[in-house]
Amino acid sequence: MPAKIVSFVTMKGGSGKSTSAMCLGAYWHKSGKKVGLIDADPAGTLVRWIAAGADLADMPAITAGPDSVDAGIDRLLKSGLDHIIIDTPGFQSEATDAAIRRADLLIIPMRPSPIDYQVAIDTAEHIADLTSASVRFLLSQTTKGSVIARHMRAQMEAANAQPMEVELSARVAYGEAALAGTTPSYYQPRGAAAREIAEYATEIGNLMVARRKKARKASEPV
Ligand SMILES: Nc1ncnc2c1ncn2[C@@H]1O[C@H](COP(=O)(O)OP(=O)(O)OP(=O)(O)O)[C@@H](O)[C@H]1O
Ligand SMILES: [Mg+2]
Repeated sequence: MPAKIVSFVTMKGGSGKSTSAMCLGAYWHKSGKKVGLIDADPAGTLVRWIAAGADLADMPAITAGPDSVDAGIDRLLKSGLDHIIIDTPGFQSEATDAAIRRADLLIIPMRPSPIDYQVAIDTAEHIADLTSASVRFLLSQTTKGSVIARHMRAQMEAANAQPMEVELSARVAYGEAALAGTTPSYYQPRGAAAREIAEYATEIGNLMVARRKKARKASEPV
């Protein structure tokens, strides 16, 4: 089975790309999946994150610039991974475009605010110019049951933008785990953040299966 590539993209800084990318990668790593990361953000967030602790030290992770995202993906594919996760910078760049073109699934994380929403929609339009791969919006840093999160969800649905069912709530566990070079799945495996990450990873897994079935159907003779 060829590796499935998930890219985290939005031109809005601080929306939760690196956190949602790392939490997914760490969850899959802990579940025994062969997963690798490409850090296409010049800030090097994922690579520094991993280096700050021991839990994720054996997860393949490489940095890639605008000219090396494709080569990085090919290198990881050759090493027999099941999944590749790509984190991108919070601005438009060639690296982001390469991560968009190669992705099987694109996640646009956004905080529940009208400003993030606008940029998320612009990002989705940019993605649609480059690929027909599936795109989902992920509400990040939400307060459970808040009016603004519900409002954003309704606005997305009205605009035919597809939000994931799962939200990643604002919890200190995310920052505390990052400080220890890890994620809540390792740091507080029975905690609320770890539970939320498990649901999130399951939803992503289901989206990838749905996509595979669709691709298989499209290739069947009529
Ligand atoms: N669910 C969460 N709960 C609490 N804090 C969070 C959560 N998600 C992200 N954060 C914090 O919010 C900040 C921004 O998150 P993150 O770095 O993941 O965003 P980003 O989109 O990758 O930003 P950039 O565009 O700068 O790369 C970080 O300090 C991170 O620890
Ligand atoms: Mg980041």
